[in-house]
Amino acid sequence: EGERDLEGKHLLLTAGPTIEAIDPMRYITNHSSGKMGYAIATEAVKRGAEVILVSGPTQLECPRGVKRIDVKSARDMYKAVDEHVEWADAVIKTAAVADYRPENESAHKIKKNGKELVLNLVPNPDILKSLGEKKKHQVLVGFAAETEHVVEYAKNKIQNKNLDFIVANNIAQSGAGFKGDTNIATIIKSNGEIIEYPQMTKNELGDIILDQVKTYLSEVE
Ligand code: PMT
Repeated sequence: EGERDLEGKHLLLTAGPTIEAIDPMRYITNHSSGKMGYAIATEAVKRGAEVILVSGPTQLECPRGVKRIDVKSARDMYKAVDEHVEWADAVIKTAAVADYRPENESAHKIKKNGKELVLNLVPNPDILKSLGEKKKHQVLVGFAAETEHVVEYAKNKIQNKNLDFIVANNIAQSGAGFKGDTNIATIIKSNGEIIEYPQMTKNELGDIILDQVKTYLSEVE
């Protein structure tokens, strides 16, 4: 331990949820606390990497040595990632990006009138997919939050988004997924290799993910 084996490497991470405004007081979001992404950022800095963390709204403190860029919506996150992707040797997308946003953000508080209210949702840009399309030298790592058919769906995402590997977690499993300090993950690589891990802390999993990133980085060099 204590090895600075990622010295000089540039890691671009995303963490947390995005929030999609309905009106000035309401929004759509999800359960991501940011812990998984912040844990990877913490471990990466310990190992000597330079880390930019694009973070949706969370309660977490910025880990020491990490440059954090705060964003709210998926579109903000897209912009921040796009601005720093050239700099990055590897991109790890832990964020739980909202797939949809309200079509129109009301400038004023929507008043109730006793009737049904219909919200029209439109798809957000898929940040990871667009990175995959433009991919150059970067090692590209996605996460997959699933509740069923975890490996099968994660494999589809590797292909669709042109990833080097994906970290799948079953968010319906206790000890895994949102909010807690532990996770249970399966890493699936673009070459088809599948590695299942037992429950461990998000920091421990962060280290494992960084070990994998490191092997890919040495192949790129
Ligand atoms: O933050 P915590 O409370 O610690 O919880 C951790 C976590 C459960 C959020 C994390 O481990 C996790 O699974 N993150 C991915 C959540 C997710 O959005 O998965 P997805 O299967 O919907 O998306 C697949 C991948 O595409 C993800 O890397 C995601 O960042 C990316 N994506 C998705 C949609 C979109 N519009 N743009 C994207 O870049």
